[in-house]
Amino acid sequence: MAASTTAPLTATARHPGSLLKELDLDKEQFLALVARAARLKQDKADGTQHRRLTGRNIALVFEKSSTRTRCAFEVAAHDQGAHVTYLGPDGSHIGHEESIRDTARVLGRMFDGIEFRGFAQDTVEQLADHAGVPVWNGLTDSWHPTQMLADILTMTEHHPGPLEQTAYCFLGDGRNNVARSLLVTGALLGMDVRIAAPRELWPPDDVIAAAHRLATTSGARVLVTDDVEQGVAGADFVYTDVWVSMGESDERWSARIDLLLPYRITEKVLHASGKPDTKFLHCLPAVHDRSTQLGDRLHELYGLSGAEVTDDVFESPRSIVFDQAENRLHTIKAVLVAALGD
Ligand code: CP
Ligand code: NVA
Repeated sequence: MAASTTAPLTATARHPGSLLKELDLDKEQFLALVARAARLKQDKADGTQHRRLTGRNIALVFEKSSTRTRCAFEVAAHDQGAHVTYLGPDGSHIGHEESIRDTARVLGRMFDGIEFRGFAQDTVEQLADHAGVPVWNGLTDSWHPTQMLADILTMTEHHPGPLEQTAYCFLGDGRNNVARSLLVTGALLGMDVRIAAPRELWPPDDVIAAAHRLATTSGARVLVTDDVEQGVAGADFVYTDVWVSMGESDERWSARIDLLLPYRITEKVLHASGKPDTKFLHCLPAVHDRSTQLGDRLHELYGLSGAEVTDDVFESPRSIVFDQAENRLHTIKAVLVAALGD
């Protein structure tokens, strides 16, 4: 059911089922979503899924493109009996002829929940302020919280034992959404979290400060370094992401390659963890060979085959990126069911 038609036009209270950034959650809330996702995954495998979202309507608003996030929301909703409406970058008035605030109030009258992927974090926050229904951040320039739920579920599957004894290192563009989210998520959960990046690409100071603040209560170990060997020593997982994110100019590639080639994930970097079973994670999509237009162009212009990770590592048994991608479905389903389920 959509929000009551008698609700005030200026609903400003955020729905408690919203997920806008990791910093809004406490450790128990975060882990409860991961645990729920694990149960939903098992139920689907066993063929014992219950439909907890029958009759619900969910809007999927995308200012940027997506494969995993869009498909995970759609399949999760369908599995649970809900309907989705996809509004792509050009398919609506959003941001062009109609403000976010007005759009929020319209969508909130029709839908039971709204997913948003786009540029500014402020947009998803405004949607949440004015829709009166749960709003979920499917990635902004600042944060990628649904990715974090999948990443932590994947880590628990591949590294049994307490999260507090799990170490991971992100190598690459430390300022991007995924790196920032990984830093605060590890800090929130009391993990051993490292970012290895050139100083020019370290996460913003306020994000590093937030991670240190969280660590004082969670007991997390937080390290931001430009030293690859220090970053990956003892890591159970090494993680990377594209060197130029959606919304950034292609012209950045040349400078990024100069800065980030030493942080590319190779067999040597995996070996530097000192652990024989260190696994490789990537949120995807990845530039790991020449089989895409981008990969082909990088080869033509810079003589590179792959960028942030070598094809050897990407295709190796150490790589668990497709488990990680599948877990987007189960964790996003957990978010939907927690917010709207019967
Ligand atoms: N990892 C991720 O968010 O993938 P998409 O961009 O395909 O949604
Ligand atoms: N940092 C990447 C993540 C893609 C899932 C981007 O924003 O393009």
